Amino acid sequence: MEFPIYRARRLRRSERLREMVRETALSAKDLIYPLFVVPGKDTFQPVSSMPGIAQLSVDRAVKECQEASSLGIPAVILFGIPERKDPLGSEAYSDSGVVQQAIRAIKEKAPEILVITDVCLCEYTDHGHCGVIKNGDVDNDSTLELLVKEALSHARAGADIVGPSDMMDGRVGAIRKALDQNGFQQVAILAYAAKFASAFYGPFREAAESTPQFGDRRSYQMDPGNADEALREVELDIREGADIVMVKPAMAYLDLVYRVKQKFGYTVAAYNVSGEYSMIKAAGHNGWIDEKRIMMEVLLCIKRAGADMILTYFAKDVARELTPGK
Ligand code: PBG
Repeated sequence: MEFPIYRARRLRRSERLREMVRETALSAKDLIYPLFVVPGKDTFQPVSSMPGIAQLSVDRAVKECQEASSLGIPAVILFGIPERKDPLGSEAYSDSGVVQQAIRAIKEKAPEILVITDVCLCEYTDHGHCGVIKNGDVDNDSTLELLVKEALSHARAGADIVGPSDMMDGRVGAIRKALDQNGFQQVAILAYAAKFASAFYGPFREAAESTPQFGDRRSYQMDPGNADEALREVELDIREGADIVMVKPAMAYLDLVYRVKQKFGYTVAAYNVSGEYSMIKAAGHNGWIDEKRIMMEVLLCIKRAGADMILTYFAKDVARELTPGK
């Protein structure tokens, strides 16, 4: 139909009309809120490069979960910063580790929220890499054994979903097998399937104290130029038993959010990572952009591209925007 019969502006005349024809809606139910857990009590240590985000002791993490839940946010993802780091990241798979403690406390005091855990070693190793170092590089297969131990330990503590973010080959299959053999058939896997070696993770590394002490992560995380390979990674993770596949980062990788959804029709998560958050916060703070509107626009567009759920540090802010009066 052509102008003047078709006038696209007819349905843009008022907010009521625009709302009625809007194809995509953002909801608090789409959001997953990341939390950084540290040892101690009553600790709220702000992360300077991520305004509004802090490292939290277990008791404060529980409070965040209660608040998030009251705002309609269905899930959190936990990252742990251990008391002590060593070459094999042993705190990652200790049943008394900080994330394990947090899972148990959240399950007891905020049982309605889903607990997802980040399964990786970089926050726990003294060298800051995501696995076991052999000959100057991360050794894939010996790392798998530790990731399996970590995932099992999270499951024992009560995690609903485990999220391997290390990008080792074969880790989803190894974790699925171990979970099943140990009676955790119902624990789901959120695979960081297409995770790129991205400079957008900068602020996270301050928050998680996980900057590599030598080299970088390019021998295991993906090259930003590759899209076909990303689809291959996603396909492998689905075959190995992933329940949800993630694209990370989100904003600069929306083509992949779209292509993954189109190609596989699988449940897709997108991670609106730390650098994406900090850029918007910084520009908003300077008065250069309208922070709230940009936040809502970015997250809506990630969803429009095909994401079923979004991990974002904006989760509470968005939920508040969506629930006037909160
Ligand atoms: C752990 C991990 C990282 C992020 C999530 N899990 C850091 C990294 O790979 O360096 C980044 C999240 C963010 O930037 O918000 N491997």
